[in-house]
This record gives sequence, structure tokens and C-alpha cells, in this order.
Amino acid sequence: MWTFSKLRRRSALKRDDFTRLPRHVAIIMDGNGRWAKKHRLSISTGHRQGTETLREIIRHTSDLGIEALSIYAFSTENWNRSREEVAALMQLILDFFASEIDELDARNVRILILGDKAGLPDKQREVLVQAEDRTCGNTGLKLNIALNYGGRAELARAARELALLVQSGEITPAMIDERAMADHLYTHGQPDVDLLIRTSGEMRLSNFMLYQCAYAEFLFPTVLWPDFTVADYDEALRAYGGRERRFGGRTPR
Ligand code: FPP
Repeated sequence: MWTFSKLRRRSALKRDDFTRLPRHVAIIMDGNGRWAKKHRLSISTGHRQGTETLREIIRHTSDLGIEALSIYAFSTENWNRSREEVAALMQLILDFFASEIDELDARNVRILILGDKAGLPDKQREVLVQAEDRTCGNTGLKLNIALNYGGRAELARAARELALLVQSGEITPAMIDERAMADHLYTHGQPDVDLLIRTSGEMRLSNFMLYQCAYAEFLFPTVLWPDFTVADYDEALRAYGGRERRFGGRTPR
């Protein structure tokens, strides 16, 4: 499939080039539609080009030894887009795993799907379950792919699971604390999001990882996702390193 070459790509930084790296990065890959419009291309070409960016960003995140990367690929609200666009995104899921799974596995990446897999078409669900199963023993980068995902739905799901544990007598209501909630999210066992990047200049969370982003640093580069380079990513990671994180206290951590 034809794609634009990454003309703006410059050499990537190494782990030692950073004073401090986030343990968990979350990305809202926004701007595929505007990129397509700007280049007078179809929306599906915009999303396809966005997938090219994604491949580079995953590689670099894994090279840097970052613990977790969460990407917002398809929200529960994205079903409201046109039939053609939804079909193109569903096809991209299949294409992405067909072309990337061998490399991701070889890189020791563990794939986890955040969201309601049951609400996805059979073919996509099978591919996603296969990818999770194949990589479940991997110990490198945790790649969380949010598909048919909504942050509020994730919290409601956690509440439901905890309510069932109370109902069955396994826990008491007093045992439901912040930790218990976190243990019932899709990301259980992972650190909170340290850095959230949303491209295209939009400054919204759009129902993404509401609980995990409680103390995240936010960066909103104006570049559209298909134009976002590894150099832009390094710049964001550098900016994160310069942020003072206090977590509500007075001394930076
Ligand atoms: C937002 O841009 C982007 C999406 C809704 C989809 C993002 C998906 C990918 C980059 C590829 C799919 C990922 C996998 C894992 C296969 P937008 O279309 O809302 O942009 P706009 O605001 O400019 O219209």
C-alpha cells in the first residue's frame, strides 16, 4: 500500500539522552482527517498514514525502554462516523496486526487491548485475542491499544466487578479503595500515565484513561498525527523531563 515517506524524520535520541523518561505514555492520535483533507486524499488514506506514524512511534518507545504505551485507536463514539470510515478503520486493524505482529513479538512487546472486544466484529476480535495470547509472556514494552474503548465505561466496568465481589462476600465495601479500583481497570498492574500527548492542537481528553491520567502531564503539539515524527516525539519526551511533578505536594518528584 502506498504511503508518504517520512521526509521530516531525523535521527532518534537514545535513552541516555534523557534525564528522565516517563514510565507510561498515552497518545491520542488526532488529526488524520485534517491531514487527509489538506492533501486532498481520502479519510482512509489519512488513517493509513496515521498507522505509519504509529509504527515508528511504537518502535522508538520500545527502543527507549519505556514501560508502557497506550494509544487511542477507536473510541466507543467512533461508531458514529460514516460506514465507510468505520469499515476503513476496521480493515486497518486487520492490516496492522498482519504486518506488525511478528516484529512486535520479536521486540518482546506485550499487546493488551483496552476496551470492549465483544462489541467488535468477529474477525477483528479473533485477531486481537490472538495477538494478546501470542504476546502474553513478553516482558518488554506493554502496548495498550484502546479499541471500542471509553474511559467512563471502563470505570463503570470496574465498579460492576467490585460490586460483584461485595455481593459474593469476597470483599467488604470498606475494601474498595483507589488501589482496588486500579486493580479492576484494563491496565491493572501498570503504572499510571505519566505523559499524555494529543496531536493536532486539540486540548481535550475525550474520555481516554480518565482514572490513569489523574496526575499525567499533558502535551498538545499542533502537528497532525500523520506528520508527527520521532523527532517530535523526542521533543515531547524532553519537555516531559523538564516538567516539575508535585502530585499535589510542594516538593518536586
Ligand atoms: C483521530 O483522527 C484518529 C482516529 C479516530 C483513529 C486513529 C487510528 C489510527 C491512527 C490507526 C489505527 C490503529 C490501529 C492499531 C490499527 P481524526 O480522524 O479524528 O482526525 P480529525 O480530527 O482531523 O478529523
